[in-house]
Amino acid sequence: MMKIMHVDASAKRERSNSRALSRFFIERLREEGVELDVDYLDVTVDTPPHVSEAFAIATYTPEHERTAAMRAALADSDVLCRRLLEADALVFAMPMYNWSMPSAFKAFVDSVTRTGVTYVNTADGRIEGQLGRQKVLFITSRGADLRPGTPFSSMDALTPALKAAFGFLGVADPAFVDAQPLQFSNQEARAEALERARAELSTVAAAWAKWATSVDMQREAMTF
Ligand SMILES: Cc1cc2nc3c(=O)[nH]c(=O)nc-3n(C[C@H](O)[C@H](O)[C@H](O)COP(=O)(O)O)c2cc1C
Repeated sequence: MMKIMHVDASAKRERSNSRALSRFFIERLREEGVELDVDYLDVTVDTPPHVSEAFAIATYTPEHERTAAMRAALADSDVLCRRLLEADALVFAMPMYNWSMPSAFKAFVDSVTRTGVTYVNTADGRIEGQLGRQKVLFITSRGADLRPGTPFSSMDALTPALKAAFGFLGVADPAFVDAQPLQFSNQEARAEALERARAELSTVAAAWAKWATSVDMQREAMTF
């Protein structure tokens, strides 16, 4: 059984490409025979709050010094962090908005980046991200084509932002499937972009299925 956290972040619903692609990926995983326990979060519906002053102070106050009010300010974030830490795999789907991530997803990042929870300061002064165990896939949809060699390639502030934010939490080697161009192009190029993305998602699904089997086998071996 693979526990997977599936997060969508597009403002669009039925018409959303990133939502369609993340659904496609989950279906592909099931078709690969992976048993899934899906924890779904739509950050456009359950949007974590902006960082407040109370949160900013409480998050850097050592746990044993926190007042009841400080603990309350962190309670929702604690729950979100727990959901991430309990998952075996994370699928984050989002459109590019103004060259970076949608603000609802940024609010999610701000909620789950927690000292002493999703990253810890070690006694010897290092920072240790706690999401090293999780498989991670980012599915992004873009109106323009930002692949290397295109005029917009230098404008991609989304990929590095996601790599940095989750790299800090211990995610070393996330998969990226970027569907592009989906808007600022002709119909044929859009269809090709979606087809390319689906093919890439199928490849990732096959790799995760293999990994899931080996993890299940290890678990079984440990129970004997
Ligand atoms: C507010 C807004 C800002 C956008 N900014 C960009 C952008 O900076 N670069 C880009 O390539 N596409 C941009 N787009 C286009 C979307 O990324 C593209 O249509 C994508 O496929 C939307 O994904 P969705 O169908 O899941 O909503 C923007 C779209 C919207 C609505």
